[in-house]
Amino acid sequence: MVPDVKKLLVLLNEGLEMEYASQIQYLTQAAITKGPYAEGLIARFKEIAGDEAEHADILRQRIVALGGTPTTKVGDIQIHPDSLKAVQINLKYEKDTVEFYRKILNLISSDHPILYEAIEHILEDSEEHVEELERLVGK
Ligand SMILES: [Fe+2]
Ligand SMILES: [Fe+2]
Repeated sequence: MVPDVKKLLVLLNEGLEMEYASQIQYLTQAAITKGPYAEGLIARFKEIAGDEAEHADILRQRIVALGGTPTTKVGDIQIHPDSLKAVQINLKYEKDTVEFYRKILNLISSDHPILYEAIEHILEDSEEHVEELERLVGK
């Protein structure tokens, strides 16, 4: 296996761990959300969780296509009983995710156009998540 592919596989599996954690985080947060804005927040959390599941699916497929093994590890999860705090936690997480996928995108050579497009798609979604969560915290 060539070194750049090895490095990419480590990063893609790191991303997969983050996607798993993110999905569980949003779904759990949706389940415990209360208060006057609960309905909107729950709908948004569930919708984003669906995107995270799709991202995990894309990463699993790309990891296998590169000759790797998809991890089953789950990254760190942070749940907060206060919905607004939870949105802020997730906003920070999404911003870190954007940085992470930008970094990966810069490492992908022109030999891997399918991988490039896949990561670009996940990056776009993550940027959308940042925008959506910023609206929820009134930014
Ligand atoms: Fe994601
Ligand atoms: Fe996201």
